[in-house]
Amino acid sequence: MSQTVAFDGAPPPGTINFGIGQPSADLLPVELVREASAAFFDEAQPFELNYGVVHGDKGFLQSLAGFLSRGYGSETSSEELFVSGGNSQALDMVSVVFADPGDTVFVEEPSYFLAFQIFRDHGLNIVGIPVDDNGLCVESLKKALQTHSPAFLYTIPSYHNPSGQCTTESRRAEIVELAQQHDFLIVADEVYQLLYYFENPPAAYGSMAASDHVVSLGSFAKILAPGMRLGWIQSSPRLRVRLAASGFINSGGSINHISSLITRKAIDNGSLESHIDALKVAYRSRVEAMDEALREHFDGIAVWTRPNGGYFFWLRFDESVETALLLDEARKVEAGFQAGNVFSSTGGLRNFMRLSFAHYNEHDIREGVARIRPLFD
Ligand SMILES: Cc1ncc(COP(=O)(O)O)c(C=O)c1O
Repeated sequence: MSQTVAFDGAPPPGTINFGIGQPSADLLPVELVREASAAFFDEAQPFELNYGVVHGDKGFLQSLAGFLSRGYGSETSSEELFVSGGNSQALDMVSVVFADPGDTVFVEEPSYFLAFQIFRDHGLNIVGIPVDDNGLCVESLKKALQTHSPAFLYTIPSYHNPSGQCTTESRRAEIVELAQQHDFLIVADEVYQLLYYFENPPAAYGSMAASDHVVSLGSFAKILAPGMRLGWIQSSPRLRVRLAASGFINSGGSINHISSLITRKAIDNGSLESHIDALKVAYRSRVEAMDEALREHFDGIAVWTRPNGGYFFWLRFDESVETALLLDEARKVEAGFQAGNVFSSTGGLRNFMRLSFAHYNEHDIREGVARIRPLFD
């Protein structure tokens, strides 16, 4: 079953739908984007409205390399970066460039549900590998490698969607070793890497991109605005050549060129990093509000671990609970959530529920949690 998602970010007034994994309107920085756009267009040269070179504008990639060096805390070279239209587009592109129809790809169980369709669009077979509180289970990965030769492993290593957890640094190292031994690619979706609220995350896979077995996908969707449709792929120069050779890039040149030139202004004038700092303060307070509300209403009914970053809480209920069956009742009380089964590549995880804290303020978070609690009586 393919899942759909609403993109206007405007649920019916009065509804508190924790299924929406998008920022609230007050966290979308219109003024920042207006200023960066004005700074770009005030000086724009005609050639900047052309296609743009295939890897992405040189100046943009240099600014991005500086931004990632500061954000990841490890030196990043612009030679490792390739502009993307955000992580959805990047997932589509890696499915074309690094896999062939009929290939197997490993995903985490659970995983970002909308990635499943992207992989299936390209005729890829999906095999799920379980995660726990320490991230992807290496022992399960080893077992799966005895019977499959995946084109790539798709992983969301930091502040996982939906589980909220991070794969530990030691497991990341083991996974890279396995990728080298078994010659598969790690496609690390690091869309939440820079959104941490309590402690720093483990080092990004991006910092291991010199290996020919890792590509790291990053996006401005969660740290600036989804509508910029802009992100990056970090990889070894050898893999970057393969990305540049794809038919789509050959025909169209740089992806979202003008958007990248505007975003460059926001990096260079410091406004993007100030905005991320403000997001972290806002989201930290929302995580705390949701954790408190859950402890008040769901203690003894569900188990969860407070996430240290990202957008999501992931609640596990008793096996007898099927969360998808409660969605209609939730709508009647003007509330909502994502049922666990959509995050499973095999239709499992029926007793789980994902709640996003990104779209509502603390007051609404408390109110929304109180509204859904009686559904579980
Ligand atoms: C894990 C993950 N990957 C990718 C995306 C989509 O990224 P983008 O907006 O950059 O296409 C999301 C957004 O929810 C996500 O959670």
